[in-house]
Amino acid sequence: RFLRNLDLLKISLLIVTKAGFIVSQMKETNFTHEMAAQFYKAHEGKPFFDQLVNYMSEGPSMIMILTKENAVEEWRQLMGPTDPDIAKDSSPDSLRAQFAQDILRNAVHGSSNKEHALNSIEYLKCGSLHIPLPVHL
Ligand code: CMP
Repeated sequence: RFLRNLDLLKISLLIVTKAGFIVSQMKETNFTHEMAAQFYKAHEGKPFFDQLVNYMSEGPSMIMILTKENAVEEWRQLMGPTDPDIAKDSSPDSLRAQFAQDILRNAVHGSSNKEHALNSIEYLKCGSLHIPLPVHL
């Protein structure tokens, strides 16, 4: 599992840096059931909600803060449509066309707008790396 994760990590970094994103922060997180339900709250009540929450809390997720001019839209382009069957037709080079298993297990997630991105960063505590500042006497 470690080697597989290392390969995935290398592939992910290669893809995002090749596409011109700067990886400002990254960390591996194991979503609990509660965290996943909160993260996908906007989809609560939809027929796939329980399955989505179960799937997202089944194993680790790699979370990245990606920086680029117009990053939200650029990342959405790179991910491709939610449904990989549509992605394979309309954007065969997209991440979901290449790596998704199906519409639920669609390999990657991205915020739909800047506000969601800021909320997700806050929720996932990505922006709270507490590095003590050097003290100048
Ligand atoms: P994403 O758009 O990143 O965030 C919401 C997720 O819900 C989506 O990825 C899919 O994983 C999942 N999803 C959206 N629509 C469906 C659907 N019709 N059937 C199953 N899963 C879905």
